[in-house]
Amino acid sequence: MENVFYRNATEADWSAVSTLLTQAELPLAGAEAHLQHFLLAFRGEELVASAGLEVYGTTALLRSVAVSKTDRGTGLGQEIVRRLLDQAYHAGVKQAVLLTTTADRFFPRFGFIKVTRADLPGEVFASPEFQGVCPSTSTVMRLNLDRAPLPPVADRPQ
Ligand SMILES: CC(C)(COP(=O)(O)OP(=O)(O)OC[C@H]1O[C@@H](n2cnc3c(N)ncnc32)[C@H](O)[C@@H]1OP(=O)(O)O)[C@@H](O)C(=O)NCCC(=O)NCCS
Repeated sequence: MENVFYRNATEADWSAVSTLLTQAELPLAGAEAHLQHFLLAFRGEELVASAGLEVYGTTALLRSVAVSKTDRGTGLGQEIVRRLLDQAYHAGVKQAVLLTTTADRFFPRFGFIKVTRADLPGEVFASPEFQGVCPSTSTVMRLNLDRAPLPPVADRPQ
């Protein structure tokens, strides 16, 4: 995780983001349309991780959580998810939801719990992830963002 810096995505990042998502075998549908709510991690010029939100009112769908294969297992996935959830909390998002077929044991560490589609607010069903991109057998998870995922900047270790 050394020498990694984080910033929000711009349109110019789409080519690199789509390559990372494809390598991680994650869907591209809808990602470019929501790119302004993606957080990216770079080492130098190289994109090494992404995490994105589709925002529907006060609910956000967390998607496109990917770390480049050579950087997995170093804490990058957890760090980028925490940072993005912290941004969401401070932007007024009240709950985050996600669909996954591969990582239902990764997300409980952030407080996500398994729910059913019936537990979700109707707005999120507009997402391509619910419109057939993710299999109907995907695990559905939800996190209530009732407190900030990260301490205030002034209280963080240097
Ligand atoms: C899931 C992913 C983002 C994790 O990123 P990472 O940087 O390797 O994860 P970290 O190093 O921050 O965390 C490692 C921890 O997560 C666990 N973990 C990593 N991937 C996991 C997975 N797919 N399922 C369950 N646990 C997982 C590890 O076992 C480890 O656990 P530990 O802390 O108890 O030892 C990465 O494996 C990836 O890009 N996978 C392909 C895309 C994907 O499946 N994305 C999630 C669906 S949106």
